[in-house]
Amino acid sequence: MARDLAIDLGTANTLVYMKGKGIVLNEPSVIALNRQTGEVLATGREAWQMIGRTPGYIVAVRPLRGGAITDFEITERMIRLLLQRVGVSRFTRPKVVICVPSAITEVERRAVTDAARRAGAADAQLIEQPMAAAIGADLPIDEPVGNMVIDIGGGTSETAVISLGGIVALEAVRVGSFDIDAAIQSYVRREHGIAIGERTAEEVKMAIGSAEPAEDESQAEVRGRDLMTGLPKTRRWCVASPRPHPSLLRTSSVAACSSSAAAGC
Ligand SMILES: Nc1ncnc2c1ncn2[C@@H]1O[C@H](COP(=O)(O)OP(=O)(O)OP(=O)(O)O)[C@@H](O)[C@H]1O
Ligand SMILES: [Mg+2]
Repeated sequence: MARDLAIDLGTANTLVYMKGKGIVLNEPSVIALNRQTGEVLATGREAWQMIGRTPGYIVAVRPLRGGAITDFEITERMIRLLLQRVGVSRFTRPKVVICVPSAITEVERRAVTDAARRAGAADAQLIEQPMAAAIGADLPIDEPVGNMVIDIGGGTSETAVISLGGIVALEAVRVGSFDIDAAIQSYVRREHGIAIGERTAEEVKMAIGSAEPAEDESQAEVRGRDLMTGLPKTRRWCVASPRPHPSLLRTSSVAACSSSAAAGC
């Protein structure tokens, strides 16, 4: 008998929770494909390592870019592979609850549940991300009080007020932490003439991105390509207390929080 599963199918990361076992998979929502044959070469962390570093015939993609399903077939394959990796087959048919970005359309929602059923799930239900986050954070959602959840993910940001077991108000926008990475990429390109990849931009954000001046000294090494010569170029930036260098203020006025862990779904 299969254990029931909960999947957080995020734009940036996918988590799988198995009843009685806890989180059994936590990996980037990335899939690497052979462009010519369509063959899946890697998924998750292994595929993430390939982003921006693949030869022409390999493409590493995030099928849920911008909180929307950009490619139904690839998303379906990713869900199938994920379920296979945690032991789901046609013989072990678990019930699956999936939390998806609230901004996805009705057609996209149906594609996700159909993909899970085709991959072997006996039943697949969807749950709104803020509701899953509230349950995971142990908020008193059944009580007649307003519980506010703010979830800033990779591709979407959602704010919801939950009361008496339901979502009373919800605002979801297709803007998230990936947009901060893109802003860092274009800033470094414009101001310093260095082309950097999305992974490097994310590392810079994690190392020195802050909504407030840094408490202690943080450093980030930026490796990219010189826009003029095309040669590798490295720059080191540091944010020292009490105030960051003025050139960093534009990139340091960012904050992001990851809620997947809190969601626990
Ligand atoms: N310490 C941190 N500082 C800044 N950004 C962070 C930090 N930790 C994680 N992030 C960012 O959070 C994003 C991932 O968040 P999360 O796993 O909640 O997204 P997701 O659930 O996959 O996306 P979505 O909910 O939009 O579909 C990544 O873009 C990552 O760079
Ligand atoms: Mg999320």
